[in-house]
Amino acid sequence: MQRSATSSFPALDSDSAQHSARTAAHLRLAIQTAGGWLPFDQWMAQALYAPGLGYYAASAVKLASSDATDARGTPIALGDFVTAPELTPLFGHTLARQVAQILNDTDTHTVLEFGAGSGALAESVLTGLDDLGITAQYRIIEVSADLRARQQTRLAPYGERVQWLDALPDRFAGCVLANEVLDAMPVSLFCWGDEATVLERGVALDANGEFTWEDRPAGPALANAVAARMPGLPGYVSEINLQAEAWMQAMGHWLTQGAALLLDYGFPRSEYYHPQRAGGTLMCHLHHHAHADPLIAPGVQDITAHVDFTAMADAAHEAGLQVLGYTSQARFLMNAGLAELLAQYDPADARRYAQVVAPVQKLLSEAEMGELFKVLAVGRGIQTPLQGFKRADRSAAL
Ligand SMILES: C[S@@+](CC[C@H](N)C(=O)[O-])C[C@H]1O[C@@H](n2cnc3c(N)ncnc32)[C@H](O)[C@@H]1O
Repeated sequence: MQRSATSSFPALDSDSAQHSARTAAHLRLAIQTAGGWLPFDQWMAQALYAPGLGYYAASAVKLASSDATDARGTPIALGDFVTAPELTPLFGHTLARQVAQILNDTDTHTVLEFGAGSGALAESVLTGLDDLGITAQYRIIEVSADLRARQQTRLAPYGERVQWLDALPDRFAGCVLANEVLDAMPVSLFCWGDEATVLERGVALDANGEFTWEDRPAGPALANAVAARMPGLPGYVSEINLQAEAWMQAMGHWLTQGAALLLDYGFPRSEYYHPQRAGGTLMCHLHHHAHADPLIAPGVQDITAHVDFTAMADAAHEAGLQVLGYTSQARFLMNAGLAELLAQYDPADARRYAQVVAPVQKLLSEAEMGELFKVLAVGRGIQTPLQGFKRADRSAAL
């Protein structure tokens, strides 16, 4: 058992502290109702998505806005984290070129985005497609009622072209987008015990009613899934995202023609479960403070895990989908034509040019989002190789 450390975190303002106290009370009750122990995936699901309380479900999400920038044009730290579409519309405009190829190839005209955040990606993809002469229809599936309301306000100018779906479609043909959505799906935590036993890590309450880690023997489904992916290394702790795999398998049923572009941070399995990554990839964001303790400040901090892209590719194959490409975000954006879009700006207008280039450098830089972030494309019925993967396709590494 391990107590969670809370010492070096930023102090919460009184509204956030009260909100977190309410979320913590909800989680305590959930632990008690479950008999004293909640598997971590259930903890994460409640901490992020409990209606009115979870981080994504209670107006708590503070996405940094591209409206607030520093002198170099980079969004300033208003929120808990910054995503690529919030950094610059050029991200979505570049993505739109790949989306256009998929729509043209399949003679379809609908985009379906999962987890659209503030609506920034939808807005820039629609603008990019309009610029390419494609009047697409846009559909969004968003689990957070709060974010859905924000998206509806932002995307109102598109009228009926943008619609929100309450459930997965039975059938869909077109292009699917998900940027930083897989990392926000609840993960199971496991720990290898002695003698090659797999333990599941969950949350319990200590004598003072504080949250504390507790490991229990994993059920056969989790134990088998873990054992199939890595050798037993006593003390090794990591995550497994069975919900994301189920999501991918479901897509195998409803995606009748087209491709899904999944953008997120993560690695192939050999890196994910590398012996040296013995503490896993769980990461929390609290007012731009990144740390690894998901038990503090429930309801006001984001909790994420990196994506095992091999698991996603395997789930796609099992569901009858083809892997169409896998590469770094930097390679994908360059292949899809980011440099050509950038060339439309005049370097002689030094101030404006610097504002445009600064966030693009962040997207491409190996030290920032260019290498850690990857793009995986899966689909069905695509005839031509996708341009985003024409150079440096790393599918063979999955
Ligand atoms: C980290 S935010 C990313 C937002 C946006 N895509 C961006 O890049 O700025 C994660 C988003 O995924 C949503 N989400 C998480 N799980 C989801 C699911 N299973 N289906 C649809 N949306 C989901 C969250 O509510 C949130 O909007």
